[in-house]
Amino acid sequence: MNDTHLLKKIQHVIQTEIVSKQPNLLYDPIVYSLSQGGKQIRPLFTLMACELFDGDIEKALYPAVGVEVFHNFTLLHDDIMDKAPIRRGQPTVYKKWNENVAILSGDAMFAVAYDFLIRTDSIYVQRIIQAFNRVAIGVCEGQQYDMDFETQDNVAISEYINMIRLKTSVLLGGALEIGGIIGHASDSDLKHLCTFGENIGLAFQLQDDWLDVYSDVEKFGKVHGGDIAVNKKTFLYLKALELANGEQSKQLKHYFSSTNFDAKKKFNTVLSIYNELNISEHTKSEMQKYQGFAMDALSKISVPPLFKDPLKGLAEILLTRQN
Ligand code: IPE
Ligand code: IPE
Ligand code: MG
Ligand code: MG
Ligand code: MG
Repeated sequence: MNDTHLLKKIQHVIQTEIVSKQPNLLYDPIVYSLSQGGKQIRPLFTLMACELFDGDIEKALYPAVGVEVFHNFTLLHDDIMDKAPIRRGQPTVYKKWNENVAILSGDAMFAVAYDFLIRTDSIYVQRIIQAFNRVAIGVCEGQQYDMDFETQDNVAISEYINMIRLKTSVLLGGALEIGGIIGHASDSDLKHLCTFGENIGLAFQLQDDWLDVYSDVEKFGKVHGGDIAVNKKTFLYLKALELANGEQSKQLKHYFSSTNFDAKKKFNTVLSIYNELNISEHTKSEMQKYQGFAMDALSKISVPPLFKDPLKGLAEILLTRQN
């Protein structure tokens, strides 16, 4: 994104360290996934958090890549769970190969992530692994809630927020925390950093949900309306249900009760209800709310304000992203 110098370092490690070996069907998908050029915001957050405290980013570089490997592992499994055929404009791993390949390559990536996470000074390792394990368990909890909600009626917006906090935010918070640990941040600064990350993560996932419906198809890189097709209880859906009149509510519930509808017809009907209810604007203002909480937390970190500009800048870009 905006910090090419840090991104180059991350990409150099990925290119030189993530290479295919035998058996090909285990390693090729790992290389495929990591060389596809996602946004790499999580490792960027790790390095920026380390720099925020004037830490040595060379010591944070491998752990940062570990975070990105873990993220890509979650995507391999997530795409099976979400029945998603396209990611980053290319076939998902389980589509290009098959589900077993995506499961096993993902499992290996989880272990590869640990290998990178511990490649730093040993004084940091225990705290990094503790923080990371908390994240990994949280992501699994969030992913299970996400799946539960596909078939659950009456999901409250507060339950949705808790679900996305787990599946998405804790990893952004953890990526920052790991950078902060290596930068020798104080406990209270680490707390503010995690709060910043968690709130940016909520806004980030709200934008992800928004993009499913309102993205520019050319830039999106995923299937448009994929969440609607599989009945994901996104903020957009839950807010629409909250605001819907009797007829709109009946239609929404009807279309979200099965995955057997004609996908185009379902998407268009749901979209027109969302538009009638200004759901795009409601989602954007919810994002602003969490963005505000994030900036409050960032302002409490005890370093000169100027040092915070890269994190602030990245956070802003994330909320207007097109993919
Ligand atoms: C996708 O994450 C999964 C979510 C938590 C929404 P990104 O949008 O960061 O995906 P890439 O890595 O940039 O493709
Ligand atoms: C992804 O959420 C969260 C994790 C992968 C843990 P989504 O399922 O919304 O992400 P995309 O839209 O597939 O990238
Ligand atoms: Mg998912
Ligand atoms: Mg998904
Ligand atoms: Mg999504």
